[in-house]
Amino acid sequence: MNKKIAFLYEVLKSPRLFLEQLKVLKDINKYMRLIAVDALAPALSRLQIGESVELDAFMKAEEFVDRPLLTEILRLVEEEGIVKVREGKLTLLRYPPRSPFPDAINKAHPTIREAFGTFIEPTIRTVRERLSGKATREFDVGELKVHWSIALEGEFYRVQREKAIAFARLMDEAKKRRGTFRVLDYGCGGGVGTVQIYNHLSGAVDDFEVDGCDVSEGLLEVAREDVSVGLPIHFFSLKEEKPSEGLYDAIFVSHVLHWTEDPAGTIGELKKYLKPDGFIFGIESTLSKRLYPVDLFIRIHGARGFPTFSELKKWFDENKMKLEFEPVWFSFKATQ
Ligand SMILES: C[S@@+](CC[C@H](N)C(=O)[O-])C[C@H]1O[C@@H](n2cnc3c(N)ncnc32)[C@H](O)[C@@H]1O
Repeated sequence: MNKKIAFLYEVLKSPRLFLEQLKVLKDINKYMRLIAVDALAPALSRLQIGESVELDAFMKAEEFVDRPLLTEILRLVEEEGIVKVREGKLTLLRYPPRSPFPDAINKAHPTIREAFGTFIEPTIRTVRERLSGKATREFDVGELKVHWSIALEGEFYRVQREKAIAFARLMDEAKKRRGTFRVLDYGCGGGVGTVQIYNHLSGAVDDFEVDGCDVSEGLLEVAREDVSVGLPIHFFSLKEEKPSEGLYDAIFVSHVLHWTEDPAGTIGELKKYLKPDGFIFGIESTLSKRLYPVDLFIRIHGARGFPTFSELKKWFDENKMKLEFEPVWFSFKATQ
């Protein structure tokens, strides 16, 4: 019940934003269905319309090895009415359209175009590679660094970060504490969120410092040399240096936990970097039907996937932290 009231409160507070977000999620659903169609198009084109093949035989012929992923991808292709999958058999109903994308992405919501438009070709390629058993690639290898920095600068992520900063009442927390208020943006990526935090505190709080850190050297370069130019934000690489223990009042973790191998262990580490009354805040989407396409997208690109709410709560429980969670924008705040 509490969750429903919190949901309703958020929806009523920002109805326009909420409706836009629903449109965005509807379009990302379509986007992922077309990614699935395009990824399997060469393989499906080798079948005859009406022909049924055993999935095992299809996988063997195409040298696919990842059956769980193939099942997910085929479910999306089935939703597009191109195949039917029943009892381990695949039937082709019609041939996949030729390159559905230039047209489909032009018709998509501008936020989707901005966040996911440049990812079309690498996502299709990665689906095919993963079906063939190629190892998951690192977060930002090669040109993915550019695609991620474009996406993370876009409205899709920016709005969620704004909501998370407000949910944590960051400015009030800063004003009520003595001494320098120190914030660490952990897994800061290209630094757009780090700058959002800096701008939020700037002018309202006298004495504060904002640091950002990440495992990705490529995105840190974007943060230092582009996004934060002229601002006194200290960025450092987690490959070279660990954050100082007991230093931070607040640690921001935005869309990061589901990329780590051991989220509960990561939270335990982060807790060490906090002052005794410090807190962790940020964004962690939880799995639902409405977010499934985004979850699939990030898993294709190497994330472990979104947790359920109870998994998320367990990660913090294990570290004896109390979690507050807002289910519309997926903002959270965890205190010791
Ligand atoms: C989706 S991006 C979010 C970036 C940023 N927090 C934002 O909101 O714009 C996920 C980030 O997590 C970082 N990351 C992945 N694994 C990590 C780890 N084990 N420790 C710290 N950062 C990690 C990636 O390099 C990437 O920058």
